[in-house]
Amino acid sequence: MFPNTHFSKAKKYWYKGKFYDWSEGIFHPMIHALHYGTCTFEGIRAYPTVNGAAIFRLKEHIDRFWHSAEVVKMTVPYSKEDIMEACKLTVRENELDSAYIRPLLFYSYGNLGLVPKFCPVELLVGAWEWGAYLGEKADQGVEACIVPNRRIHISQLDLSAKLGGVYVQSTINGIEARERGYDEAIFLNLEGRIAEGPGENIFVIKDEVFHTNNRSESILEGITRTSLLEIAANLGYKTKVAPILKEDLFNADEAFFCGTAAEITPIAKVADFSDNPKDGSVYTIGDGRPGQITTRIATVFREVVRGQHPEYHKWLTYVKD
Ligand SMILES: Cc1ncc(COP(=O)(O)O)c(C=O)c1O
Repeated sequence: MFPNTHFSKAKKYWYKGKFYDWSEGIFHPMIHALHYGTCTFEGIRAYPTVNGAAIFRLKEHIDRFWHSAEVVKMTVPYSKEDIMEACKLTVRENELDSAYIRPLLFYSYGNLGLVPKFCPVELLVGAWEWGAYLGEKADQGVEACIVPNRRIHISQLDLSAKLGGVYVQSTINGIEARERGYDEAIFLNLEGRIAEGPGENIFVIKDEVFHTNNRSESILEGITRTSLLEIAANLGYKTKVAPILKEDLFNADEAFFCGTAAEITPIAKVADFSDNPKDGSVYTIGDGRPGQITTRIATVFREVVRGQHPEYHKWLTYVKD
């Protein structure tokens, strides 16, 4: 029996076409993915709307999921439509208004050589209610630190794929940031410029212009990031996609993390441990509180995902047909 203490309102998960009680565990300890991280996942959110729960940018998430599966050389025994349907069903089955949805494709039980020749590819989908990823006070602004370890480089791996094993780097550095007393880590890339958070992209606002970087800076170009670039432009702001230097972040008027889990989380302070792992310099971003423009885009984003802006209904998939 597995308690669901940290997965509030999770009742059932979907596995190979059937629902199982959340507390029921059904995997063999020798599955390939458990040993080598040979799996791919998505993180998707559903929000409450007047027409019930709606999943934000489901198609784009499943397209990325598909791409990730190709990168890890999986033959997926489902269509994209099957996977989207499983996501919708899982939210419905758990009777959730708002949800974090986690589809996972993995090399299952077969052999344990590094090449999973005899391991079938299996799919599971979970959904539960997940509040603010960086803590309930995150909307007041988080304190982040640039960790000494550099982000895996784009020349080493296709970083647009969300591969389980690759997230070990995010886990290690997320723990390290918290051990240092900060809320979240920031990675530099091998070139020494700002890359991203362990599970978030970064925006910097200077003179009312939204700046963010792109894949050539060794980041995953998030779906939230892409959505925000469009929303910001539609609100009349200039946007600029280009490398971000450490100094751009330290001297920003405002800065925020964004991602499906973190949504929009203002950054209040940044400590830099990249040059001196023992004693980092600390920089306050703007006046150390969520900036006006960050607050505005966060409000609009909140409304968009809840179906309150008809021009963005194209991004919503209702859970009930
Ligand atoms: C490394 C990394 N960067 C950025 C993001 C943000 O991506 P998205 O907005 O698609 O959730 C995520 C989350 O998926 C991530 O894991």
